[in-house]
Amino acid sequence: MKNRKLGANGFDVSEVGLGCWQLGADWGSGVAREIGMEILTTAAANGVTFFDTADVYGAGRSEDLIGQFLKHWDGAPIRVATKFGRGGDVYPDGYTEETLRRGVDASRERLGVEALDLVQLHCIPTDVMRNGAIFDWLRKLQQEGAIRHFGASVETVEEGLICLEQEGLLSLQVIFNLFRQKLVTELLPQAEAKGVGLIVRLPLASGVLSGKFTANTTFAEQDHRNYNRDGAAFNVGETFAGIPFEKAVELADALKTHLPEGVTLAKMAQRWILDHPAVSTIIPGASAPDQILRNAAASDVAPLPKALRKELAAFYAAEVEPHIRGPY
Ligand SMILES: NC(=O)c1ccc[n+]([C@@H]2O[C@H](COP(=O)([O-])OP(=O)(O)OC[C@H]3O[C@@H](n4cnc5c(N)ncnc54)[C@H](OP(=O)(O)O)[C@@H]3O)[C@@H](O)[C@H]2O)c1
Repeated sequence: MKNRKLGANGFDVSEVGLGCWQLGADWGSGVAREIGMEILTTAAANGVTFFDTADVYGAGRSEDLIGQFLKHWDGAPIRVATKFGRGGDVYPDGYTEETLRRGVDASRERLGVEALDLVQLHCIPTDVMRNGAIFDWLRKLQQEGAIRHFGASVETVEEGLICLEQEGLLSLQVIFNLFRQKLVTELLPQAEAKGVGLIVRLPLASGVLSGKFTANTTFAEQDHRNYNRDGAAFNVGETFAGIPFEKAVELADALKTHLPEGVTLAKMAQRWILDHPAVSTIIPGASAPDQILRNAAASDVAPLPKALRKELAAFYAAEVEPHIRGPY
C-alpha cells in the first residue's frame, strides 16, 4: 500500500482508505458488529491507515465501533476523519459554536481520542459555508486542541471553491469517479494549488462500478440504494453518482470493454482516481472484508495508459454526463 500526504500541512494516509458508513448499519440489513470489527482489522492489517466516518453513521455506531477497534489495535497508527453537520439537532439551520463543540466532544468520546485527527463539515448548506462563521469556530477548536485539522465534505464544485478560500482548511471530500469527471478541470487543480488534500468518496459509485450489479439487482428497504435512488431522502448524487440505476448498470457494463488485461472494473475505476495527483486518498466503503483486500490492491495496479484515459474521458462526455442528476 502506498501512502500520500493529506494536504500540504497534514499527515500521511494510505492512498486507499476505508469508508465506514456501512459500519453504522445504515445500509441494507446492517453490518453486524463482528463483521464490522473484521472489516476494520482486515483494512488495518493490509496497510489501510485512514478511516472515514461521521457522527450520524448509525447514530454514532460507526464511530463507536472504530473507537473499540482503536483500543486494541497496536499496529501502524490509524488516522480517523469524522464529520459534523447532518445530525437532527443541527441540520439544516442549527449551527452554533455550542452545537459544534458538543458534536466534536461526542465524537471524541465515541472514538476514545483526546483530539480528532480531522473533522469535516458534512454537506452542510451552501449558505452556512459561505457565511464562514463555522470555520472560525473550527479554528478555535483547533487552537484549543480538541481537533487537529478541519476540512469539508461538499456536493458541488461551487461549494468546494467556497471552502478553498478558508484559511487552514486541510481537505475537501468530494464525489469523483468514472461517472463524475467534471472536477478534473477546475476543482482538482485549485485544491492542489492551495495545498488542500482531496478525499474521494463513492469511488465505485455506490458499488455499481464494481460491475457486479444487473438491472434486476434489488437492495434492502433500509439501503439508500433503494430508498434514495431518485434522491427522495438526500442529494441523489450520493447514490449511484446520481445516475438512474438501470442506466448506471448499462454504463458500467459498457466500461468492461475498456479494461486493460487482467484488471477488473473495480480496480480500473479506483486506479483512474488515483492517477490524479491532486487526490490524497480514496475511501471505498465495504460490507465484507474481502472487498477491502481487492480495493487495497488498486494501489498496486500500474497507472492507466494515456490512450485509455482519453477513451474514458470521451466515454464520460458522450455517454455518462447527460444522465447525471442533482447538484454537481
Ligand atoms: N456526504 C458525505 O460526506 C458522504 C456520502 C456518502 C459516502 N461517504 C463516505 O464515503 C464512503 C464511500 O462511499 P460509498 O460507500 O457510499 O460508495 P462506494 O465506496 O462507491 O461503494 C461501496 C459499496 O461498493 C461495494 N463494493 C466495495 N468494494 C467492492 C469490491 N471490491 N467488489 C465489489 N463490490 C464492492 C459494496 O457494496 P455491497 O455492500 O452491495 O457489497 C460497498 O458497500 C462511505 O463509506 C462514507 O465513509 C460520505
